[in-house]
Amino acid sequence: MYVNVAVLKETQPHERRVALVPSVTARLIKLGAKSHMQSGAGDAIHLVDAAFANVVFMTDRKELVSDADVVLAVQPPALEVVSAMKDGAILMSFIYAHKQPALVQHLLDRKITCFAMERVPRITRAQEMDALSSQSALAGYYAVQLGATHLARILPKMTTAAGAIGPARVLVMGLGVAGLEAVATAHRLGAVVEGYDVRPETQEQALSLGAKFVETGVDARGNGGYARELSAAEKSKVAAVLTEHIQQADLIITTAAIPGRPSPKLISRAQVSGMKAGGVIVDLSADGGGNCEDTRPGETARVGQVTIVAPLNVPSLLGADASELYAKNQYNLLALMMKDNVIEIDWEDEVLAKTALTHAGALTDEGAKRGPASIGDVAKHAGSAKHESGPSPVGGQ
Ligand SMILES: NC(=O)c1ccc[n+]([C@@H]2O[C@H](COP(=O)([O-])OP(=O)(O)OC[C@H]3O[C@@H](n4cnc5c(N)ncnc54)[C@H](O)[C@@H]3O)[C@@H](O)[C@H]2O)c1
Repeated sequence: MYVNVAVLKETQPHERRVALVPSVTARLIKLGAKSHMQSGAGDAIHLVDAAFANVVFMTDRKELVSDADVVLAVQPPALEVVSAMKDGAILMSFIYAHKQPALVQHLLDRKITCFAMERVPRITRAQEMDALSSQSALAGYYAVQLGATHLARILPKMTTAAGAIGPARVLVMGLGVAGLEAVATAHRLGAVVEGYDVRPETQEQALSLGAKFVETGVDARGNGGYARELSAAEKSKVAAVLTEHIQQADLIITTAAIPGRPSPKLISRAQVSGMKAGGVIVDLSADGGGNCEDTRPGETARVGQVTIVAPLNVPSLLGADASELYAKNQYNLLALMMKDNVIEIDWEDEVLAKTALTHAGALTDEGAKRGPASIGDVAKHAGSAKHESGPSPVGGQ
């Protein structure tokens, strides 16, 4: 007996990641899984089918999932994929349920047990399954590289026979996983780094990575370690302090996010116009609309003398490393529920209970309790989505 695992080829535009990499296949076998993949699933990151040992490749994705006990993917799958799954099978991928009412309804109809990777709780025991963190860390690193290539100057101090060049000043706004990685990377590259966040506990973290912390006196700690939205008065208090730091920076990296809400705007048009000529902003929050008033998600824009770089789905740009870490995150989650070649879900396990979105035709209790974009909201949408035709709002594979 074995557990039949199926891995989809991603089909969303610009998605290069894959949910299984060769280094994980042997571990899956040890767990008691037999792996199947859609042909060409790793092509975008140069992992040809032949690079995978002990994996059965299939071309038809519906056939692939029809016999699977577990389906692995990065992005939310297409409705037709879910429809082709066995009743009661397991799906593991990013879902972002509040954007996917039709998909959630399909998961309920097919009685799929869905583990949504963005729901893995941010607790110490779950760090090895935390795909948001693994992907954000890569994005934070990459933001500095991207910023450096758009600057017409170097990051470190350099002394030459012709004279010395001072270090660039980098300001990182939003010190979650991506922001702290950006701080560490910019510091390693020799820049003078400042960090800013509305959660005061980030001060110590920024200092330990070599940055100065910009204090605004506003504390916006919210639920579950995340930030809350600022009031209008708090926003203007923050802006008054930040303007000076924005004007001194050569490179600004913004990463601020509030779960279930559009990205907070941290840099106004007026603040951009006051920046140094040749300054660069790398906005890592473009997927949520961006942290800068002038951000154009998915584009690199020139605003006066400032360049604003706003790539979408940054982890996908580092598809090889992002897939390696994501596949390990999913393997670790699967390992929590597989024993002796069978799947046994311990619903008392906090990680499994909180990550699950749907089970046995119902939204999970944990899901209904959690967050501003709670599954309670989704249930309302899902109910109405049942009667709608047409594609899911975000698309799928
Ligand atoms: N296993 C663990 O213990 C673990 C792992 C990863 C993350 N975490 C925690 O989870 C939380 C979220 O991390 P994340 O990387 O997903 O963050 P995120 O992507 O939700 O947000 C990025 C950062 O933006 C900040 N932010 C929000 N609004 C802002 C504003 N108006 N101005 C400035 N900054 C603003 C947030 O405070 C956060 O630090 C953090 O508390 C982090 O320490 C814990």
